[in-house]
Amino acid sequence: MGRVIIGGSSSYVLAVKLARELKAPLLGTDIKKFPDGEKYVRIIGDLDGIDAVVIQSMYLNPDEYLIEYFLLVEALKNSGAKKVTGIIPYFAYARQDKRFNPGEPISLKTVSKLIETAGTDQLLTVDMHLHRVDDMGKIFNIPAKNLTAIPAIAHYIGKNLPLEKPLIIGPDEEAEQWARTAATHLETDYDVLEKKRLSSTEVEITTRELEVKNRDIVIIDDIISTGGTIAKTIEALKKQGAKKIVAACTHPILVDNALKKIYTAGACDVIGTTTIPSPISVVEIASTLAHALI
Ligand code: R5P
Repeated sequence: MGRVIIGGSSSYVLAVKLARELKAPLLGTDIKKFPDGEKYVRIIGDLDGIDAVVIQSMYLNPDEYLIEYFLLVEALKNSGAKKVTGIIPYFAYARQDKRFNPGEPISLKTVSKLIETAGTDQLLTVDMHLHRVDDMGKIFNIPAKNLTAIPAIAHYIGKNLPLEKPLIIGPDEEAEQWARTAATHLETDYDVLEKKRLSSTEVEITTRELEVKNRDIVIIDDIISTGGTIAKTIEALKKQGAKKIVAACTHPILVDNALKKIYTAGACDVIGTTTIPSPISVVEIASTLAHALI
C-alpha cells in the first residue's frame, strides 16, 4: 500500500490539506479522553505495510499532543506499518535546548528521544527554534529536516499586501536568517534589531538609527507568543517614523491578548502560517510540507 496521512487532533485540518496536496488517503481516527483524563487513540483502517505520515503540531497543550502523537505512532508500528514519518509543524520544547540553570533538564533532548523511541522513522518540522543548535543531526538520530515557511510567507506578502518596497526587520539577531530570506524573496533590504529578554513575557528592544522614515516595514519572526517582541519592535520603529508595519511569523501561538497588543502598538496587518490554527493563519503550509515528502 502507498502513503497514507493521519492527523492528530491538533492538526486535523492541516492533515486534510496535506492529503489533498499529496493525493493520498486520510485515515480516520477515534481520539478521545477517558474520564480520568487519559488519552485513547485508534486509527481506522488496514495499517499493515503502510507508509504512514502522522501530523501533529504542539501548541498550547504540547504535553497532551505529545502523548497523543506517541500513541498514534505506537499504534501504527504495532499494527505493521512499514514506515512512520512524523510531521511536527510547531515543535514545542525546542527553546530549552540547554541547561540554563543547575537542576534543569535539556527538554529538547528528552522530547526528541521520546519521539524516536515511539517509533518515528523520520521527522519533518518547520522553523524550529534552533538558536544554539545548527544541525538537526545533533538532536535526532533519525533523518530529520527543519523546513522553512519564510518563502511562503514572503510570497503571500508580495501577492496580497500593498506595501512599497518594504524594509524587512528581524527583532533580534536570531531572526536575521528569516529577515534575510524574506528580503531575498521580496527583492528588498533587511536589518535586525537587538532584543534583551527580561522574563518569559517581557522583552526590551534596543534601537539605533535606522533608515525607516516613511518606509513600509515587515517584521518577521519565527514565533509570536505573547506578542511582546513584535509590539516593542513596532513601538521602536514607529518612533523613528516608519509608515505601514506588517508583522509576520511562522508560528502564531498568540497567548495573552497578543494580537490586541500588536495592533494597539500600530501594526496594520499581522499574519502567520497554518502550522498553528489561529485567526491570522493565512499562509498555507501544506504545500511546503508536501514538497518535502515528494
Ligand atoms: C525568541 O527568540 C523567538 O524568536 C520569538 O521572538 C519569541 O518567542 C516571541 O515571543 P513573544 O511573542 O512572547 O515576545
